[in-house]
Amino acid sequence: MKDTYDLQISTNAAAGGLFNQALRSLAGFDADVVERAQGVREADPGFALGHCVFGYVMMLAYSRAALAPAADALHAAERHAAGATPREQAHVRALASWIGGDIDSALRQWEAVLAQFPRDVLALRLAHANYFWLGRREEMRASLERVAPRWGEDSGFMACLAFALEESGEYAAAERYGRRAVELDPTEVWGAHAVAHVLEMQRRADEGIAWLAGLEPHWTGKGAFLHHLWWHRAMFHLARREFDAVLDLYDRRFRNLSSPLVAALPDFHVDVQNAASMLARLELRGVAVGARWEELADKAEARIGDVLSAWTVPHWMMALGATGRDASARAMLANLRASDSALMREVAAPVCEALLAHRRGHHGLVIALMAPILGRLRELGGSHAQRDVLVQTFSDSSRRAQRVA
Ligand SMILES: [Fe+2]
Repeated sequence: MKDTYDLQISTNAAAGGLFNQALRSLAGFDADVVERAQGVREADPGFALGHCVFGYVMMLAYSRAALAPAADALHAAERHAAGATPREQAHVRALASWIGGDIDSALRQWEAVLAQFPRDVLALRLAHANYFWLGRREEMRASLERVAPRWGEDSGFMACLAFALEESGEYAAAERYGRRAVELDPTEVWGAHAVAHVLEMQRRADEGIAWLAGLEPHWTGKGAFLHHLWWHRAMFHLARREFDAVLDLYDRRFRNLSSPLVAALPDFHVDVQNAASMLARLELRGVAVGARWEELADKAEARIGDVLSAWTVPHWMMALGATGRDASARAMLANLRASDSALMREVAAPVCEALLAHRRGHHGLVIALMAPILGRLRELGGSHAQRDVLVQTFSDSSRRAQRVA
């Protein structure tokens, strides 16, 4: 049968219908994506791409704990790959590369799929997400622009394009595509997010608050990505120096430990980024944040050595530094310095050491550690808005060390 995007899939009608729903949940950042993907596997255990989607969803957690279930799904997919189409087989190979730590190979395979099947939403979204987390904004944009003629006015596609344009500094075009995506589908959270980024970069805080507040009624059923939208709203309040509103959003919206979404995955990478980054930004402005760092530090200690999410690593270190957990901080630093990854050794390690030095008031050291690598911060991934927390830390030390120039 054919999927929503008119691509051939090797399964029955029932599992195919569930597969289409899983694709929609994945692209829509819905809370039910894991159970949807699991449902596809159960409906047709012989459907290689069904297993593959589950593996992809696991990998998108960027957590070492997710590697085992992802590998289980890969093995099931490989067992049934012989009868699959070449496109489906390419996905199985891409998943194997990703799990094996070779994300560049996975990206090449997704791009090869897109060259032949420009409407393959899995390849499109996985390339988009991974270029983003790798800090490769040019590739993120080019990947979308190559297939744009085949997507036209598709809300999900326009949301991706809007975000890629925003990260490229093309704010007017980004805002136009983002607003159009949301106009076509008010539940399009990635499009809402792209517009929020434009408003953040252009310091349009009042509009940003109104934009997100107006869309909130359409977010029923969305997953943890909602927390990131609430974080963006808090960023607008931070710009207006409404610190009580920021802390209220923190406690009730994006770091509510008793919410089902947080309970389901308490150390989800974007959640940790949202939380730690906001506490750091508040403290840079002299706002006391109470004991909020402690639970983050607990999770940080459990993730020492897990660097699958490069951009989360400095956030883990922020929590260890803020809570004075020196032994754990040293263990994390040692792990980064001994890493096989040049990014961890050359960028993450000095950034993390600088975050600790900032905490201790060693501002000259912060400058010495960070100045040589300011141009490489983007390799850690994340958005301009997110990475600004590191630049703010550097600026704070420059000011305190009286070395503003
Ligand atoms: Fe964002």
